[in-house]
Amino acid sequence: MDRHRKSFLVLHGPNLNLLGSREVGIYGSLSLAELNNLLLGEAEKLGVKLDCYQSNSEGDLIDQIHDAPGKYHGIIINPGAFTHYSIALRDALAGVNIPAVEVHLSNIYAREEFRRHSVIAPVVRGQISGFGPWSYFLALRVLNDLDD
Ligand code: DQA
Repeated sequence: MDRHRKSFLVLHGPNLNLLGSREVGIYGSLSLAELNNLLLGEAEKLGVKLDCYQSNSEGDLIDQIHDAPGKYHGIIINPGAFTHYSIALRDALAGVNIPAVEVHLSNIYAREEFRRHSVIAPVVRGQISGFGPWSYFLALRVLNDLDD
């Protein structure tokens, strides 16, 4: 981990590879590659390093979380549908000593009942939900401002 330059990991969960074509009325028309490029541009402006990773598999996301301490100063995670039921993902985040922010493109509290509960929220620093790509940008700013 670079002592002089902060580095962050963005984790995109299941189905987020379909961004841009998936339920565009809810998630917008930006593709995942476009979103990642915007985030990388924002990271450059902030002078931080950023890696982006997407997986449809719970185990891959958990492995990334396990490997993050020592490599990254913080994690931005959009757990997708895992938000609502993955105790394994929650335990992974709770089990590593690294600040994380949960993000959602859509406002999960304004949607179906089953989306209104996050099992992830209690083990992260905070949650940003409903601002489209801005949810990620805000999380990056917040993580960059944290002292730990
Ligand atoms: C989402 C909201 C989740 O409920 C959903 O399963 C997703 C995307 C969001 O970014 O708004 O896949 O995390």
